[in-house]
This record gives sequence, C-alpha cells and structure tokens, in this order.
Amino acid sequence: MSGPDRATQMTKLYEIIGGYHATQLLEVGRALGVWEAIAESPSITSDGLSAQLGTDRFYTDVLLRTAFAFELIDRDGDGWRMAAHFDEILGRPDATFYLGNVARIHLLLGRDYEDYATRFRDGSLFSFQAHDREFIEAVADGLKTLPRIFSEVVLPKLPALRAKLERGGTLLDVGCGGGWALVTFAERFPKLRCIGVDIERRSIDMANALLRERGLADRCEARLLGVEGLTERDAYDVATTFLVVHELEPRIKPAVFEAVARSLKPGGSFVIFDETYPETEEALRTMPSRFAALAQWFELTWGNRVDTRTALLKLLADAGLAVAEETMLSRFTIIVATK
Ligand SMILES: C[S@@+](CC[C@H](N)C(=O)[O-])C[C@H]1O[C@@H](n2cnc3c(N)ncnc32)[C@H](O)[C@@H]1O
Repeated sequence: MSGPDRATQMTKLYEIIGGYHATQLLEVGRALGVWEAIAESPSITSDGLSAQLGTDRFYTDVLLRTAFAFELIDRDGDGWRMAAHFDEILGRPDATFYLGNVARIHLLLGRDYEDYATRFRDGSLFSFQAHDREFIEAVADGLKTLPRIFSEVVLPKLPALRAKLERGGTLLDVGCGGGWALVTFAERFPKLRCIGVDIERRSIDMANALLRERGLADRCEARLLGVEGLTERDAYDVATTFLVVHELEPRIKPAVFEAVARSLKPGGSFVIFDETYPETEEALRTMPSRFAALAQWFELTWGNRVDTRTALLKLLADAGLAVAEETMLSRFTIIVATK
C-alpha cells in the first residue's frame, strides 16, 4: 500500500496533540515571566533563570528544553536565547509584534469545547458576548497589538489610506472591543477623531476607560451600538474593522456593509482586517491559511461565519464599495474599499 505507514500517522496524531501542550507552555512561560527574562538576558542558563524567577531548577530546565523542542528558544552555549523574532513576539510586551497573550485567549476559549457535543446535537449557540469577563478582557488584551502591527507594518503598503489618515478627519472603528484601535490611530494620527461602536457593554466600558487614561477622550469615544444601527450619512473618512466581520451575525452582514457604506463620506475607505476562509484544498491544508479554517472551528458555536475572500468582495460590491488596495499579513486578509 502506498502512502504513509501507521507509525507515521501515529506520529502525526501526537504532533497535533503536541500543539495543545505547547500552547499551555506558552502561557505558563508568560505567567512566570520566562520569555521576558530570556529576552532581557540572552544566554541565561536554566539555573540562572530559576534563581532569578524563584522557580524549581528541574521544572525550569524542562520548560526550557520543551520550548527549545518547539523552536521558541535557541541554545546559546550553556544558556538560552529567544529564537529569531520571538524576543519581540513573546518577550517584549511593548513591542509592535508582541503576541504573548494570545495563547491565553485560546486556553480560555477551550472551555467552550466542553459543550460542543451538546451544541452539535441541538444546534445551540454560545455567543462571544455571553462569555465571562475574564474572557472578554483576555481577548482585548491579546488582540491589542493588531492595530499597532497594522499601522506600522501594513499601512506603509497602503499609501492611499495612510495619506488619508494623515490628513485627519473622522474614523469609525466597527466592533471596537476594548478600544485599542481607537487609541492606536488617535495617537499615530493627531488630526484624527475616532468613534468606536460595539454591542458588548463591558468592552465599551473598557474602551472609554482606556481613552480617558490615555488623555484621548476629547477626540475619541466608544458607543454601545450595533453597527447595523448606524444612521449617520456621509460622516466618516475611514471605517476600520479588526477581526469583526467574521463575528457579525451572518444574516445581518449585508445590512452592516450597507450601513458602513452609507456612513462613509464619498471617497471614504472601509478597511477590513480579518481571516478569510480558504478557497482551495491546498490553502485549507497550509499554514497560515489553515488557521482561518481553525478560527471557523474554534468559534463555531459563537454563531460566527468566516467568509471567503470572494464572499467579502461580493458584500463590498453589493454595498457599492470598490476595492482600492489589498494585502496580506500572515493569516490575515486586508482589504481597503472605497465609496
Ligand atoms: C474578536 S472581537 C474584536 C474586537 C476588536 N476589534 C479587537 O481587535 O480587539 C469582535 C468584536 O465585534 C463585536 N461585534 C459583533 N457584532 C457586532 C455588531 N453587530 N456591531 C458592532 N460590534 C459587533 C463584538 O462584540 C466584539 O467586540
């Protein structure tokens, strides 16, 4: 028989389960301060790290060897250093690409799996908004660098949009969550006024508290409002969405795109930053596009639908918005459409 043998497939199974344990390791390492300590002191030894963190020597050494096995850290003589770029990704909370809190989101949403079998049988939902405060706060915290990554890494590839933001005007952040996009854009573009809307009350409260803390409340505000309920016309220069389109109730998506289009000034831009569902078998089996398919899996019972890029283009066209610029970042599709 051709194809992989049973032992190879057995290994594949363990490889998959290994990802679960590596996710736990990411979070344990973050909570203990391991990644920050290694980023701060490259070539630190296992004993040096356990002395610094006050952790058990053997446990610490095993954690580090496991992190090495997953290529998160490298050997540096007798010591350890973060693997390329992982100092920034895991070890520096202030860095643009810091994603050290993302594992925690996945561990918390893993609780949803306990009810999957029941929900598969009765078709019931457990919406994003029904999750507890710990989860809502973890999502805001884990995603807070996305707008920063967008503005530092993606925006230079979207010159027309960047020029528009630099000129100022009013920005609408759809599904603003904890308000990090509002803060990022307002701080980067001082002539911009920023309004966020979201249907999740705790997120709106967090966003307004954050805006006050950053001294931005005079030109930024978060409102408890479903985007489909926007009544403004020709009001905004730019509308942004970070990981929101796939979270909209599927039946309201056309109305949402129409409401956003209506609320934009002529020539205004709608920015979609989201996962798009793979459209080929190859993309379904290849990272990073495979992760968008996983997002549909791990957010399935929230009622979410991860649209294909083709479906997004149709929603835009039906709302009278024309694609002006488009790019990708890791698993994310970024589309800028103009009214
Ligand atoms: C994954 S969260 C992303 C939040 C934020 N953009 C970020 O990147 O942290 C998706 C957000 O969309 C919001 N949302 C879902 N449906 C909405 C609607 N109809 N109108 C406004 N916001 C909505 C959710 O409440 C949630 O806060």
